[in-house]
Amino acid sequence: MKSRGKLLGQRWWSLGLPSVFLLCLFFFLVGLFGSTLISQQDVQVDSVRPRSRVLESVEEFDALPNGETGEHSLTSISFQVLSWFPRAVYFPNFATEEQCQGIIKMAKAELKPSALALRKGETAENTKGIRTSSGMFISSSEDKTGILDLIEEKIARATMIPRTHGEAFNVLRYEIGQSYHSHYDAFDPSQYGPQKSQRVASFLLYLSDVEEGGETMFPFENGQNMDANYDFRKCIGLKVKPRRGDGLLFYSLFPNGTIDPTSLHGSCPVIRGEKWVATKWIRDQELDE
Ligand SMILES: *[C@@H]1O[C@H](CO)[C@@H](O)[C@H](O)[C@H]1NC(C)=O
Repeated sequence: MKSRGKLLGQRWWSLGLPSVFLLCLFFFLVGLFGSTLISQQDVQVDSVRPRSRVLESVEEFDALPNGETGEHSLTSISFQVLSWFPRAVYFPNFATEEQCQGIIKMAKAELKPSALALRKGETAENTKGIRTSSGMFISSSEDKTGILDLIEEKIARATMIPRTHGEAFNVLRYEIGQSYHSHYDAFDPSQYGPQKSQRVASFLLYLSDVEEGGETMFPFENGQNMDANYDFRKCIGLKVKPRRGDGLLFYSLFPNGTIDPTSLHGSCPVIRGEKWVATKWIRDQELDE
């Protein structure tokens, strides 16, 4: 038995060693090749969207010591980038249902037909029909319920633009058939004259669902439809369907301060239901309320 064992052992050594060696080499090479492939993929993914990888791992992050004006804990505000041209971001569940209802309640009694900022040569008469909603303005300090204060604070945190840059909320109601033709929120000095300050961005908080129609549209999204033939009443391009409590932020200016032509937007006619929206325009200068 002893000699047989020894013989087997010797055979194993004499026959097996090269095979074991080859097997090891094979797995080593497979491993090496595989890992370089995977790491190449990693590098590609990293270089395309390095930010989202960082942002997605936020749950594993312990809050850092905060500065005097900072916050000691993490906040998660979900968002979806809807478009880069214009820079438009969607925030689901930005406000609660009760907050939305509260804002509608405070606005309802004060509604007046919405006005337009007029360009040279325009009058209330010859611009009739461009904006058919009713609306009112209310600042957070005028709202005794404190709802607008909370919303304004949240907008400031989401945009990192101080709330002193925000105009008063403009609460609008669109009834069936009412709409707002495509327009810019920023004021082009060549059309409106010199401006003391400019609207950088707009934050829309949808206060109601709309059964049909009433979408916020960006007809020039990613440069589409930008020929001279675009009819400003036409509801085309990127359309955002209003959902109660959701927020939409878009920038009217490029980082260099010039107007982004793709930020043209409008409100499609309401077909069924009613649309309520609160808009906050954010300026490049502080405003004194
Ligand atoms: C401002 O930025 C936009 C977008 O990057 C660019 O197309 C435009 O030429 C710039 N304008 C000026 C005056 O720098």
